[in-house]
Amino acid sequence: MALGQKIFLDPRLSADGKTSCASCHIPGSAFGDAKPVAIGHDGLAGTRNTPSLTATIASGRTTFFWDGRRDKLEDAVMDPFSNPVEMGLHDRAAVASKVASLSDYSKWIASGEPTEKLDQQISAALAAYLRGLPMTPTRFERFTRGEANAIDEREKLGMRLFAGKGQCGTCHKLPDARLTDDLFHRSGVSMDDIALALPALTQSVLDRNLSGNALGDRVATHANEAQLGHFAVSHRVADLETFATPSLREVRLTAPYMHDGSVRTLDDAVDREVYYRGLDTGYPIGLTAQERADLKAFLETL
Ligand code: HEC
Ligand code: HEC
Repeated sequence: MALGQKIFLDPRLSADGKTSCASCHIPGSAFGDAKPVAIGHDGLAGTRNTPSLTATIASGRTTFFWDGRRDKLEDAVMDPFSNPVEMGLHDRAAVASKVASLSDYSKWIASGEPTEKLDQQISAALAAYLRGLPMTPTRFERFTRGEANAIDEREKLGMRLFAGKGQCGTCHKLPDARLTDDLFHRSGVSMDDIALALPALTQSVLDRNLSGNALGDRVATHANEAQLGHFAVSHRVADLETFATPSLREVRLTAPYMHDGSVRTLDDAVDREVYYRGLDTGYPIGLTAQERADLKAFLETL
């Protein structure tokens, strides 16, 4: 087993000794979980839905986390260790000291290796493990690589609706099966919950001025601030309540949906997106029940 994979699967690197990366990014479930929001060490709940890491890696996304607070995978993979509701270690340095203290890691660690060097080694190994995850091409990926029959006629109808009338392809880009545009958009999900609190919440974010893992720790423990999305990173009003466009790879396996996991089924997610994206542009997207069913059939090939 490679170092990155061993660390990914190792529950000893957490506050309760029972939580590993794989507790939430479950290899058999597209490296996500089936929960609305993540549950970390000692049963503590976070505020956001666990993303599928195979979807993230396959799409080649250029930012990480729903709010885009990290732009290097090497940084993103280290944040969960010290997140207070994920793995709960005291700080980032605790990861390297813990690894150094476990004898079964000795074959990867030079004796007397300084902690900072080991820290870099761990972050590089985790990032390399994720970049190298074996992935069976999805039917849509086979189709984009030239296998015309990998999706059937009805699914092709759905694809045309996705790219055309449904306008989904504006953000979930079809070329190279990336299914994202690397941008942040307002989704309308759970926005009403914080409407009255917005002035105080935005001020609090500006006053604290957090970034990187400190911002991650904060939003994982403050549901209302988590709703502000990319604003907490950019501090631009136009980014209020916007979230990264998720790749829809294997979306049939990744319920529940959206940044807060508040949408239970794929049908509900499609209905929401059709309604809200229409509202966004000012032109309602009229799709018949049959067209919605075809669109969903296409989503199931992704
Ligand atoms: C308690 C559940 C939990 C654990 C444990 C966990 N994660 Fe995550 N992971 C999440 C959640 C939730 C998010 C999204 C957080 C956000 O957007 O603010 C996430 C996001 C990520 C992302 C960014 C993905 C994207 O699509 O933007 C990466 C990379 C990642 N985790 C890697 C790891 C690694 C590596 C570990 C172990 C060191 C780990 N995670 C442990 C729940 C977890
Ligand atoms: C303006 C850009 C944009 C358009 C157009 C768009 N989406 Fe999305 N989509 C997003 C964003 C951003 C999210 C995440 C929103 C959130 O979590 O709050 C999302 C989330 C989703 C999800 C949930 C994915 C998950 O992993 O939770 C599905 C399913 C989805 N979109 C399907 C569609 C369909 C079908 C269409 C066309 C009818 C569409 N989208 C049009 C940007 C867009």
